[in-house]
Amino acid sequence: MIESFEKTRVAGSIAAGALDEVSKIINPGVTTEEIDNLCYEYINDNGAYSAPLFYRGFPKSCCTSTNHIVCHGIPSNKILKEGDIVNVDVTALKDGWHGDTSRMFEIGKISIKAKKLIETTHQSMMKAINILKEGIHLGDIGATIQEHVESNGFSVVQDFCGHGTGKSFHCEPNVLHYGKKGTGEKLKSGMIFTIEPMINSGNFETKILNDGWTAVTKDKSLSAQFEHTVGITKDGYEIFTQSKLVG
Ligand code: MF3
Ligand code: CO
Ligand code: CO
Repeated sequence: MIESFEKTRVAGSIAAGALDEVSKIINPGVTTEEIDNLCYEYINDNGAYSAPLFYRGFPKSCCTSTNHIVCHGIPSNKILKEGDIVNVDVTALKDGWHGDTSRMFEIGKISIKAKKLIETTHQSMMKAINILKEGIHLGDIGATIQEHVESNGFSVVQDFCGHGTGKSFHCEPNVLHYGKKGTGEKLKSGMIFTIEPMINSGNFETKILNDGWTAVTKDKSLSAQFEHTVGITKDGYEIFTQSKLVG
C-alpha cells in the first residue's frame, strides 16, 4: 500500500503537470497533434512513458476529444477553433505505476450551455470524490454522479467507465458513473482507481467511428469529461492527479 500510493503519486503528478502545460498553449489555431507532442515531451522529460501510445494499437500519446466526441479522440492536424470544448486525457507510466487524468479546456469564448455542461461534469466528479472512504459502495459513486448530472438536465454515458489502475493501466474494479446507493463492491483502503464521468448535453448513447477508437454522441450533442486517479484510505481519499496550478 505504501509503495502503490507513493508511486501512483509520482505518476499522477507527472500526468497532472502535462495538463498544466497544455493549459498554457491551448488556444484557437493550435492543432490537437501539437497538444499530443507537448504531452509526449513533458511526460518523457519527466522520466515517464505515455501509456496510451501503442496501447492496444492507439497511435498517439494522449486523447483529444472535441465537442461531440465523448472520449478516445485521436490527435491529428485538426485545428482548434473559437467556441470548441476539448478534453485532453493523459496517462503517465512511471517506475511501473500509472497516473491517469483528464480535463476540459475552453477554446476562446464558448456557449453558455457548453460552460454549464463542463461545470456540471466537474462538480459531479468532485461530489463523488468527496464521499470516498473505506466502506462505502461502488454504487454510491455512480449514484452521486447520476443524481447531480440528471438534476441539471444532462445524461451520463454508460458505455465507458472508470477503472482500477496501478501496475496495469486498466484493471478491476469497473467504476460506473451511474447506479444505486448501497449496491456493488465495498471500497477498501489501499484501492486505487479512476473516476472519469463522461456527460452528454443530449442523449447518453454513443457510437464508435470507423477509426475504431473515436467515441461520439449518437445525437451529435456536446460531451464533457474530467478524470482523476484516487486512492482510498480508512477515513477518506487521496487525489493523485491534482493540478499544481490554481484549482
Ligand atoms: N486514458 C483513458 C482512460 O481514462 C484511456 C485511453 S486508452 C487509449 O482510461 F488507448 F485510448 F489511449
Ligand atoms: Co482512465
Ligand atoms: Co484517462
